[in-house]
Amino acid sequence: MLPGSHIFRLSCQISGLPALFGYPKETETMVRIKAEMFPPSPLLQSSKPMNNNTVLYVLLGGLILLLICLILLILFRKLIKPVELKEIILQSKRKPAAPDYFSGNLRTISYFDFRTLRKATKNFNPANQLGCGGFGPVYKGKLDDGRMVAVKKLSLGKSQQGEAEFLAEVRLITSIQHKNLVRLLGCCSDGSQRLLVYEYMENRSLDGIIYGKVDHFLDWSTRYQIILGIARGLQYLHEDSHIRIVHRDIKASNILLDEKFQPKIGDFGLARFFPEDEAYLSTNFAGTLGYTAPEYAIRGELSEKADIYSFGVLLLEIISCRKNTDLSLSSEMQYLPEYAWKLYERSKVIDVVDPKLQKDGFVEKDVFQAIHVAFLCLQPHPNLRPPMSDIVAMLTCKVDMVATPTPVKPVFLDRKPRNNNKNNLISSEIISAESFPSPMLSDSPSIARPHN
Ligand SMILES: Nc1ncnc2c1ncn2[C@@H]1O[C@H](COP(=O)(O)OP(=O)(O)OP(=O)(O)O)[C@@H](O)[C@H]1O
Ligand SMILES: [Mg+2]
Repeated sequence: MLPGSHIFRLSCQISGLPALFGYPKETETMVRIKAEMFPPSPLLQSSKPMNNNTVLYVLLGGLILLLICLILLILFRKLIKPVELKEIILQSKRKPAAPDYFSGNLRTISYFDFRTLRKATKNFNPANQLGCGGFGPVYKGKLDDGRMVAVKKLSLGKSQQGEAEFLAEVRLITSIQHKNLVRLLGCCSDGSQRLLVYEYMENRSLDGIIYGKVDHFLDWSTRYQIILGIARGLQYLHEDSHIRIVHRDIKASNILLDEKFQPKIGDFGLARFFPEDEAYLSTNFAGTLGYTAPEYAIRGELSEKADIYSFGVLLLEIISCRKNTDLSLSSEMQYLPEYAWKLYERSKVIDVVDPKLQKDGFVEKDVFQAIHVAFLCLQPHPNLRPPMSDIVAMLTCKVDMVATPTPVKPVFLDRKPRNNNKNNLISSEIISAESFPSPMLSDSPSIARPHN
């Protein structure tokens, strides 16, 4: 130590803060001030007692300093809530390679403790399991405040879609909200565990009803409400949300139904941020085959038009109450879009409608309109498929259907294995990059439209 100098040792007592600000945890700042730089204060030198003015100045100065400290403390507490501060500190303690869970929009969602979710699902009891998809099992749970939730527990070991999709889903769902999109209530990351907590949807997913796993008949007005809700949810994702989102996995099991059978689109794990005006070339084929647009299946070309194609397939499933592919049926009926088109060509498209619905009664004009919309969605060339806002307008009769384009024959993927290539599910003999017909050369505007 230099003669005539003083050392002041300032220790930080708030655990976590040094790391937060980028200093090592045990940092102690030593401030060395040379005594010569600060000549001794006349106050200390003087043997005379302090006069009244000086005492007043010292007191005033102290008071002002105290006030500033108080204001700063209040501001700090208002800007950063204790829970968030805890998260920030936790985040700063994570190893550098760990993903940035708590940045941006994530600060607005709830963070669930693993123990809370274990309790809510009765230790992830198999009896509480709602289903198991590509992510891993989904459990029904009840929180302490009485709220019902669906907890999606990622199987990181089994699923290649693990962490990256977890992050994508959390980021996307928290930043977009619409009445026809399933709400993500929060998430949990505990060691290797990654969990998503959704609002619980009373009537589960649409596949249960339309594939006959659940014995529940949907009348036409409910089906119409479901079709329109899905269309509105997709319109929001494609056109109205602040980020352009392609869902990539529109299918019956990803449509959830609340207690009033209002639909909500779930599973944004496959959705990606999407660059404006650019077709996204996917490296990882993620869709489900029967719903997959040909340009996506063959060339990996992904745009919102792929979702529109899947919506067309789903629409036919809702009307006919069957799976898009059912190999137990006669060969003509196995592939729903193909079968529906054949009936359409013969002016017998009414036969595609669910027999139970035919018995119960439906608004014929609305059903034909919905089938017409489905065919427009299934157009082989992505540019021929209308955007979701047009589809919503067509479904709500805001546009004259006579003025809408007549659909051309969809291109169907041949999923039957070929002799020479038994493992290949999609035949490129039937559909290849070159075989998408040009809108100008399409072969069917002359086909009779269904009678209204
Ligand atoms: N929020 C929810 N409320 C009620 N049930 C749900 C909820 N989320 C999912 N489920 C149920 O859990 C099942 C499994 O869902 P999950 O999304 O994991 O699988 P999937 O949709 O069949 O496949 P994929 O992983 O391809 O989406 C669903 O079919 C649905 O019945
Ligand atoms: Mg799903």
